[in-house]
Amino acid sequence: MSAAVDREVVARFRNVVTRRVGLHFDAGKDAFLADILRRHAAVIGLDDFWFVEQLENPRAALEWRGLIQELTVAETYFFRNPAQFAALRDVVRMDWAGRAVNVLSAGCASGEEPYSIAMTLVDCSAAISAIDVNGVMLAKAAIGRYSAWSLRETAAPLRARYFAASGNEFVFDPTLRRAVAFEERNLVADDAAFWRPEAFDVVFCRNVLMYFAPANARAAIARIARSLTPGGLLFLGHAETLRGLSRDFELRHTHGTFYYQRKPILAPVEASDAPSDPAWDALPPAVDGAGDTGVAWYEAIAHAAQRVRTIVARPLAAPATPLAEMVPDPALPVAHAMALMADEHYAEALALLQALPQERARQSDALFLRGVLLMHRGDLADAERICETLLLRDGDSAGAHYLMALCREAYGDRDAAALHDRHAASLDPGFAMPRLHLGLLARRAGDQAEARRELTRAATLLQAEEASRVLLFGGGFGREALLAMCRAELASADGTP
Ligand SMILES: C[S@@+](CC[C@H](N)C(=O)[O-])C[C@H]1O[C@@H](n2cnc3c(N)ncnc32)[C@H](O)[C@@H]1O
Repeated sequence: MSAAVDREVVARFRNVVTRRVGLHFDAGKDAFLADILRRHAAVIGLDDFWFVEQLENPRAALEWRGLIQELTVAETYFFRNPAQFAALRDVVRMDWAGRAVNVLSAGCASGEEPYSIAMTLVDCSAAISAIDVNGVMLAKAAIGRYSAWSLRETAAPLRARYFAASGNEFVFDPTLRRAVAFEERNLVADDAAFWRPEAFDVVFCRNVLMYFAPANARAAIARIARSLTPGGLLFLGHAETLRGLSRDFELRHTHGTFYYQRKPILAPVEASDAPSDPAWDALPPAVDGAGDTGVAWYEAIAHAAQRVRTIVARPLAAPATPLAEMVPDPALPVAHAMALMADEHYAEALALLQALPQERARQSDALFLRGVLLMHRGDLADAERICETLLLRDGDSAGAHYLMALCREAYGDRDAAALHDRHAASLDPGFAMPRLHLGLLARRAGDQAEARRELTRAATLLQAEEASRVLLFGGGFGREALLAMCRAELASADGTP
């Protein structure tokens, strides 16, 4: 297998791992992933390519357990960040005195965290559940034998009370061990029976989401928020934050540490936030270097789209396959889809892209156009995942940043939307659409001065904007309609104090 194919297989492996268990690995981890991939494929006698094919197939009964054990980081110890346990004790004993509490340790690894919770709440009425995707670590938790290193933050009186020395190890108290219900469970899987509304008063999800891709972290936090009681507590690791992930919590500083408290009312549910959506499995995986996600290809595709119009004597909405066979130009199917889009045949354009052979479908031009069409149709989650893939391939793609800004705004995350717009505008100062979007965002936020600045720039840039980009990013509006929108918004911004 050539080095190039290897890279592609590793990229697919990286993507399928993210989809299934949420873990994000940047390209710098390719050697680590390739090593795991080769060894696991060899064990079952498949080559790398077919092994990844099996992993990508949700119906293939392939063993993920061994892979997960190697891919996850299970580092933990008793009373990690002890101030958080002091804060938990005080809230439960004082603020919630007499109340029975349900606590979840999500990503509990080998049990040190839920057992620390059990020791902290030993005098309270607490039901403690603990979940992890790593079955090997859960088995270790059930046995309850730990090294002295695991007890490095455990105070001497607690060691004496709850641990029995056994050779070089320490055995955790069997009664408290039984107080914790362990379960092998994937935080990425949206199991409504487990994530019942208001099922938990406290969730510890520490040092787990830092390994997740942002979309998976957001979905996991949304699930946790729904399953917490109003006012319930969420503890993250000391280096983690909910910034950009959720607006459902208030940050509380206490005991020299912090936790989050669930707001009484949650932000509207974004069903498409859940990357466990089976439709995602159909999305072609990323291929590094599979094409330019910048702006140059729009032009080429637009020209090809024009050629398609002249070649095709029948309506553009007709099936594309015969055309693709007649003219063996790899740009044509995507050009045809763009021409369909120009004629507002959005569903046909999407169907054409979805019918492309996988190799072609995963190239950046096809993926990009698909992202635009999905966004247009309101399939935000899939559109956002495509943006993530494109940005992973090329972080300097102004178009992908702009598309991401639209997705983020649709999710109500205006800060992130504005960040992506600014990035797009700085990467490509001639790009009108992020300026227009920044102007609209500023208008909605009541910042009229900023709105005027951005809308004025947008109006200037729009006049010289490439036709292909107006088509691709105009959301179905032509240049004149976009200019009219700019003028109308500018007039309102001027009229507003
Ligand atoms: C670094 S440990 C954190 C342990 C403990 N929460 C702490 O802070 O000490 C991260 C744990 O998250 C688990 N994990 C990673 N991805 C997960 C997923 N998708 N679902 C459930 N657990 C996951 C890993 O298996 C690992 O045990």
